[in-house]
Amino acid sequence: MSHPTPAHPLNAPTAPVPPAGSPAAARTAPSGAPTAAALLDFVRRTAADRALVDSLPLDPEGRTWVRLEGPGGSEAWLIGWPPGTGTGWHDHADSLGAFATARGTLTENALAVRLPASGWKTLELADGLDRSRRLGEGGSRAFGRHHVHEVLNESPDTHAVSVHAYYPPLPLIRRFSRTGAVLRLEQVERPEDWQ
Ligand SMILES: [Fe+2]
Repeated sequence: MSHPTPAHPLNAPTAPVPPAGSPAAARTAPSGAPTAAALLDFVRRTAADRALVDSLPLDPEGRTWVRLEGPGGSEAWLIGWPPGTGTGWHDHADSLGAFATARGTLTENALAVRLPASGWKTLELADGLDRSRRLGEGGSRAFGRHHVHEVLNESPDTHAVSVHAYYPPLPLIRRFSRTGAVLRLEQVERPEDWQ
């Protein structure tokens, strides 16, 4: 089955996210929508819920996932990643989001650039845009709109489990292939493709 998008998600100039629980971590924007800080707080707390995390069925052959109730109408997922699995390069269009590793370690490779929303098929990336980070158990991050990344479990032998939240609920995912500095738009997936 195709993946919903363990996506997850930063893009380049990303607004700093205040620590969860801090006075600055406003939980909703003036519009009432959940903020990146609220999503980050949610994924952190959920990833620490051992009973929930342990309830996810794991499959050594492929990713598994369970949909969760995210805050403020956001879309949330609990995702299991067998060793060697990953998402491929993608973005989440106009959704912002957050994810947290509950078990194992995930690697996020991201591009520190905001891609044009439309009107292109291939882009040549400038030097110095690649960012890579490893999120071990308890590690988390938030990301803004149009964040381009791939998420991978690079472990040779250990399953990873993570929690992801997006707002607005994912309208679409753009999938890219990458050859060196060239990024190519391959596919636009809409929710009906993977729900
Ligand atoms: Fe993603």
